[in-house]
Amino acid sequence: MKTALISDIHANRSALEAVLADIDRRGIANIINLGDSLSGPLDATGTADLLIARNLPTVCGNHDRQLYDRPKADMGLWESWIIDDLSPSHLAWIKSLPKILTIDDMLFCHATIDDDDEMWLHEMGPDARMISRDLTGIQDRLGATEATLIACGHTHTPALVRLPDGPTIVNPGSVGCPAFEDTRLDPPFIQQVGAPDARYAIVEKTDGLWRADLLAVPYDPSEMASLARAKGEANWARALETGWLA
Ligand SMILES: [Fe+2]
Repeated sequence: MKTALISDIHANRSALEAVLADIDRRGIANIINLGDSLSGPLDATGTADLLIARNLPTVCGNHDRQLYDRPKADMGLWESWIIDDLSPSHLAWIKSLPKILTIDDMLFCHATIDDDDEMWLHEMGPDARMISRDLTGIQDRLGATEATLIACGHTHTPALVRLPDGPTIVNPGSVGCPAFEDTRLDPPFIQQVGAPDARYAIVEKTDGLWRADLLAVPYDPSEMASLARAKGEANWARALETGWLA
């Protein structure tokens, strides 16, 4: 049975609509959302309404948690853009999300099993660019799970890793944010996948082996880029349009 993995939508309603249409066209009913659904300078309320209506199994990302675990004055920029727009029912939905979901021999988390804000398959490399993590670093974060497939997001970078004598770990990439920079660090930490497409994955176990299709769905980002520019976020807009930062 096929399962579609979506993650890191970050309020990009247009990208979410494109991905859900692609999944629906393939007739895949099982869809898991790996979190970071609403934070960003785009359409948080439209994204929340769509996700709540679809009632997808969803885990809580670090950016979702940061919408309710601190006062507004202490929120980061990505949350401060949207917190006043969200309704009580939107926030109640966010607060209801679990850290981890398990279904059969599959485990779904946002970042790692123990930490919603730690990169797993990637790390910060030279020049503050995101790079792949080595085998030991990935194994060290595995813990005692007996899952044979683990799905995580957080790094916005699609990846499939098979651990020797361990599970297969899949990161579907980001539905709605193909490039970002963390300007709290000096130099800024930069991630960019180099294409504007909305990313997601389809996983399926056949003959005892987990297989994953890492997919890129073209869509029209112009409405979301306009919303980013209206908030003064030219870099966000450029990332949505090109997959690259300036
Ligand atoms: Fe994210």
